[in-house]
Amino acid sequence: MTTFQSFGLAPRVESALTAAGYSTPTPIQAGAIPLIMSGRDVMGLAQTGTGKTLAFAAPILDKLFRNQGPAPHKGARVLVLAPTRELAGQIAASFETYGAGLGLRIAMVCGGAKIGPQIRKLERGVHVLIATPGRLIDLIEQRAVGLKDVEVLVLDEADQMLDLGFIHALRAIAKHVPAKRQTLFFSATMPKLVEGLAAQFLRDPAQVAVAPPSATADKVEQRICFVEQGEKQALLVETIRKPEVKTVLVFTRTKHGADAVVRRLAASDIDSVAIHGNKSQSQRERALESFKGGKVPVLVATDIAARGIHIDGLTHVINFDLPEVPEQYVHRIGRTARAGATGVAISFVSRDERDYLRAIEKLVGNKLAPRPAGEKESDDRGSRKPQQQSRRPQGQQRSSGNGERRPQRDGERRAYDPAARRAPADGERRPQREGERTSQGHGERASGNGGHFQRTSGGGKPGGNGGGSRRGPGQGGGGGRSRRPERAGV
Ligand SMILES: Nc1ncnc2c1ncn2[C@@H]1O[C@H](COP(=O)(O)OP(=O)(O)OP(=O)(O)O)[C@@H](O)[C@H]1O
Ligand SMILES: [Mg+2]
Repeated sequence: MTTFQSFGLAPRVESALTAAGYSTPTPIQAGAIPLIMSGRDVMGLAQTGTGKTLAFAAPILDKLFRNQGPAPHKGARVLVLAPTRELAGQIAASFETYGAGLGLRIAMVCGGAKIGPQIRKLERGVHVLIATPGRLIDLIEQRAVGLKDVEVLVLDEADQMLDLGFIHALRAIAKHVPAKRQTLFFSATMPKLVEGLAAQFLRDPAQVAVAPPSATADKVEQRICFVEQGEKQALLVETIRKPEVKTVLVFTRTKHGADAVVRRLAASDIDSVAIHGNKSQSQRERALESFKGGKVPVLVATDIAARGIHIDGLTHVINFDLPEVPEQYVHRIGRTARAGATGVAISFVSRDERDYLRAIEKLVGNKLAPRPAGEKESDDRGSRKPQQQSRRPQGQQRSSGNGERRPQRDGERRAYDPAARRAPADGERRPQREGERTSQGHGERASGNGGHFQRTSGGGKPGGNGGGSRRGPGQGGGGGRSRRPERAGV
């Protein structure tokens, strides 16, 4: 069995991991760490909650520790980019945990907080800088930071960072990073078209894929509820009141929808908080902290919380609305069943959302639910009466889990629809659309055997539940009250 000892990490790095309670590497860590240590560019693909953060952080900390030197003045040696402020904060907390006692300077900068303190923090330079793209560009333009000393560039949630909402900012940032660098991309999903674009940033990358791309987390039980749109709220209340539902993250497609769910839950005496791009940064932080801390049992979120965020002990994810972009389903339900835990994901599917469900099934390679009784598989837009559909949780369908794939039919939404992927950069900037795609070759594939976890009880916090609470208040940005879907990262 691979152990952290077998990688040949610097003893101090190894003991920092042990002290944080990590004993056995997960498959993505076993595959990626040696390749990263050898200096290769890496595209790391593994299911949600399987420790991708440590997979890139450990070898980076090792490199920095072995080759110590002062942090470059107004610069950084490692740059990690992430799509949301919350995720950037969490990654920074993870670096602090995994690298405790190594004497490295780690900083996080993102929008929604005052820029002054961030400028001062960067003055002395840092070893690792974790940033959201919009604020980083502001800081570069203000000459508060330069990227000429960056040796390693990491894109977490890489497919989203390469997406239309971020690609312009990413290109602008990449221009400042030396071409001679190591580049690491990580995600649980990587649509083929985006993969092509990745080739422009990677040099002869080794691909480490421990499961088929876009595979859902191993231990998440997926259920589908066919329900009329107007009955979703009643079904939500009924579901949340079930005794086994301890903590629940509810996803809606729009910010307005999230607020409406919170209001209506309050009317049913259910305490909840919302997190989305129209909330101020301090509201976002408070919402996440009170949910993580167990003060509020229900968090209602847009796709802003779909990616990367780790919430210990989250038992249930409910898709109040299905996401338009199928990959987001994989990430959303991946907020539960992490680090070897089990979890349940329940999706409410209205008549209008059947196409989204098909696209998701196509992506994950699973038929998630038989169509409601009496409805022909070949034509889900039949003239059935809403009442005929089950809306009761008891009627929830379980995934058949048979891995069967259906052929794509005419009119079915494509699994990858560039037009549906305009993800504004965390409410900071709206980079323009770009469309260029190229092809890419790959290096080797590392085999994997699922995401088994072993963790001794150490002092560290799993996944760094920090959530970036160090930031000050500010506006989240992202436009006015909108009924448009909030795309990831808003
Ligand atoms: N080797 C390990 N042994 C036990 N637990 C681990 C190990 N590596 C990471 N973890 C824990 O697993 C959890 C998930 O890690 P992480 O957030 O890095 O997952 P991820 O693969 O990045 O997920 P996502 O795709 O959602 O971003 C964290 O709580 C982390 O502490
Ligand atoms: Mg992650």
